[in-house]
Amino acid sequence: MLFLQFLLLAVLLPGGDNADAAPEHVSFHVIQTASFANQSWAQCHGSGWLDELQTHGWDHESNTISFLHTWSKGNFSNKEFLYLNVLFRAYSIGLIQDIQARASQYSVEYPFEVQMNAGCELHSGESPKSFFQVAFEGADLLSFQNTTWVPSPDCGSWAQSVCDLLNQYEGIKETVHTLLRSTCPRFLLGLLDSGKMYLHRQVRPEAWLSSRPSLGSGRLLLVCHVSGFYPKPVWATWMRNEEEQLGTEYSDILPNADGTWYLQVTLDVASEEAASLSCRVRHSSLGGQDIILYWGHHFSMNWIALVVVVVILVILIVLVLRFKKHCSYQDIL
Ligand SMILES: *[C@@H]1O[C@H](CO)[C@@H](O)[C@H](O)[C@H]1NC(C)=O
Ligand SMILES: *[C@@H]1O[C@H](CO)[C@@H](O)[C@H](O)[C@H]1NC(C)=O
Ligand SMILES: *[C@@H]1O[C@H](CO)[C@@H](O)[C@H](O)[C@H]1NC(C)=O
Repeated sequence: MLFLQFLLLAVLLPGGDNADAAPEHVSFHVIQTASFANQSWAQCHGSGWLDELQTHGWDHESNTISFLHTWSKGNFSNKEFLYLNVLFRAYSIGLIQDIQARASQYSVEYPFEVQMNAGCELHSGESPKSFFQVAFEGADLLSFQNTTWVPSPDCGSWAQSVCDLLNQYEGIKETVHTLLRSTCPRFLLGLLDSGKMYLHRQVRPEAWLSSRPSLGSGRLLLVCHVSGFYPKPVWATWMRNEEEQLGTEYSDILPNADGTWYLQVTLDVASEEAASLSCRVRHSSLGGQDIILYWGHHFSMNWIALVVVVVILVILIVLVLRFKKHCSYQDIL
């Protein structure tokens, strides 16, 4: 059991207890989606991401990069961003015009979508890796490998001819290579530094329990909700006394709108066995003090708290009224 717990911890808490340790790998990438409705209408959406956190958008009004956090500029100067703006603008417009012009040549049918994902990845102790992948209608089409556009294996001759075309543009290949190999890792390191207060913050989770009927008759699905925590690594499980319940199931860790995370931990049990179960939550923000919620206790605990609050309020009101009366008598006298 202990071994299992350690295994789970190892899986769910990369980096272990030390929240300040540098992550094993971190990436910055730009996602671009170009939607083509017909021969005369297309739209491009771009965004920049530090791992799973969006740091940049693309402002369609001014055709410039938008910064979603105060630290999103990293250590790049405005001049450097001016250059990148010009580059991305020319690239988006050129890309759309080029694809529109050649859609009929490749007998592509409208509407369709082209997606790009490009960036770099730092692994501790290794040199940076970079990637540039292009997908057509959600399937891999081609990628950029060591200064050459390479078709995806099961894409056929179509992808090959697109690559042949792209590979003629030496200037573009050089620019892409520089952006991926030099600009991106440099920017990523600067971003990690300028955003370190935000990226290393600790936000405590809130946890609450609920249940819903399970499929089997006389069974309950107990749900432990853990929400609002940051950073992402978290450990939570259903326990009976000190024993971890092996049937515990985990949702994906989902993002909240404010950049914190949410997890659901469920356990399917016979209704009469629900008592004495508890949900235990461990997170770096809790400083070793796990949150433990007991099934069945939460209603009564809430009621007790409510009664206590009401009683205190009543006493306070009585005291205030008495004090006021007392004062006004004195005022008259
Ligand atoms: C092209 O698509 C846009 C957006 O869906 C639409 O508003 C426009 O009427 C279409 N134009 C033609 C020529 O079909
Ligand atoms: C990348 O390409 C260059 C020149 O085209 C070549 O010298 C180099 O060996 C290649 N590297 C890898 C890892 O394929
Ligand atoms: C930004 O920080 C990175 C990493 O510390 C450094 O390599 C780079 O020279 C700095 N300045 C710019 C303008 O990239």
